[in-house]
Amino acid sequence: MSAARGRTGPGANPGPAEGWEASPDYAGGADAFAERLQAFSSLEKLGGFALGCTRCRLRAGCKGVVFGEGHPRARLLLVGEGPGATEDALGRPFVGRAGELLDRILEAAGFRRQDVYISNVVLCRPPNNRIPDDAEIAACRPYLQRRMDIMRPGIVVALGATALRALVDARARVTQARGQWHRVEERWVLPTFHPAAVLRDATKKKPVWEDFQMVRDLYRRLYGALPAEAAGVGPAEG
Ligand code: URA
Repeated sequence: MSAARGRTGPGANPGPAEGWEASPDYAGGADAFAERLQAFSSLEKLGGFALGCTRCRLRAGCKGVVFGEGHPRARLLLVGEGPGATEDALGRPFVGRAGELLDRILEAAGFRRQDVYISNVVLCRPPNNRIPDDAEIAACRPYLQRRMDIMRPGIVVALGATALRALVDARARVTQARGQWHRVEERWVLPTFHPAAVLRDATKKKPVWEDFQMVRDLYRRLYGALPAEAAGVGPAEG
């Protein structure tokens, strides 16, 4: 993530309400759009539709939509903020420096990347990696909801403040909400610090590690074993 992040500033695009017109398939209010997404019954179909999305202005400033990747029936879903430059270039979530750290965190907690699903609150890279604004988050939110309805993950990790606000409470603060389970619909949501925040501030490493231990413990409680353990690969105890 760049150091120059914020809701405004050079390179910031106005929100979708400000002079942006989506093509007809992607236009409309959140409820109508959520209704349209009901037509897609698999992640593959939903992703195929999302790739053409022009619902907000972000699409005009990035290379492409980064839909997400992982096991389509993963019981653990990780949600970040939005693609960065590397993710935009490669079309995959969390493959830059923050992604490398996320892989190490997952591995230390006993999860393999192939067993979980990873995506973001917004599917298009915000210019200069700025924080997506409320309108952009709202425009993309139906995809996240439909993804969760299709996958039905029992556990969702909200990586950072944007994911916390999109998944739990728009006014919540990550410093206060992290490390506690939040019951949202039929899911358990655990907010934690974003890996990019850990890269900027090493004191966040321990709390994130503790949060992922909570994820590991709940996963075992709910499902009996971690995917690697169930596959006979053996736990990666920390
Ligand atoms: N940061 C995010 O929030 N998501 C990514 O995919 C990469 C970096």
